[in-house]
Amino acid sequence: MLIAIDNVLTADEVRQARQALEATAWVDGRVTAGEQAATVKLNLQIPQDAPVAKEIGGLVLRALGRNPAFNSAVLPLRVLPPMFNRYDAGMTFGAHVDSAIRHVPEAGIRIRTDVSSTLFLSDPSEYDGGELVVEDTYGSQKVKLAAGSMVVYPATSLHAVTPISRGSRWASFFWTQSMIRDDGQRRLLYDLDRAIMETRRHLPDDNHGVVGLTGVYHNLLRQWAEM
Ligand code: NI
Repeated sequence: MLIAIDNVLTADEVRQARQALEATAWVDGRVTAGEQAATVKLNLQIPQDAPVAKEIGGLVLRALGRNPAFNSAVLPLRVLPPMFNRYDAGMTFGAHVDSAIRHVPEAGIRIRTDVSSTLFLSDPSEYDGGELVVEDTYGSQKVKLAAGSMVVYPATSLHAVTPISRGSRWASFFWTQSMIRDDGQRRLLYDLDRAIMETRRHLPDDNHGVVGLTGVYHNLLRQWAEM
């Protein structure tokens, strides 16, 4: 399931992130790639231990915390510290699957990457090319969103970033270990949550149907969640 979430960051937050990243040195993106991905990856990244990565990463994490769509779609257990990448003209990232397990050095833990996220920090008008192409159950989907908007998709998907032919594409990207490992179960819970929200717009919260469906949601989550 691939979901676009608009306005995760405000315009002010996008500006703040861009200014902080502009003042920082970028390095070859292959530093964090696995063996196969490194052979097809050509981009730039902010080093994970750079102070700006922590500062703007914190801003992204706070924005996720207040975003109901992210929490409903991803059911996060742990979010890896956000990273930042940039594709200038000629840069690209060929087809790959993200590494399943990632180490968080400062926390001394490993997390399973269930959901991949890309939070766009450049507007589509700033560059040509640079689409995120994700192989979904329903075929391949091309994604290019407004600055401040984000796409989440199963980390199991084959995906790529097409070559940039003009301008520069900046983004934050990160992985989440979900309480729900299975993409199909996560999707069911998301659909059920949305259907309950929609029903609650038309019926009072003490309606027996609303109470029953809400109970089913929580009891499914209780059965399936791992923590
Ligand atoms: Ni990737």
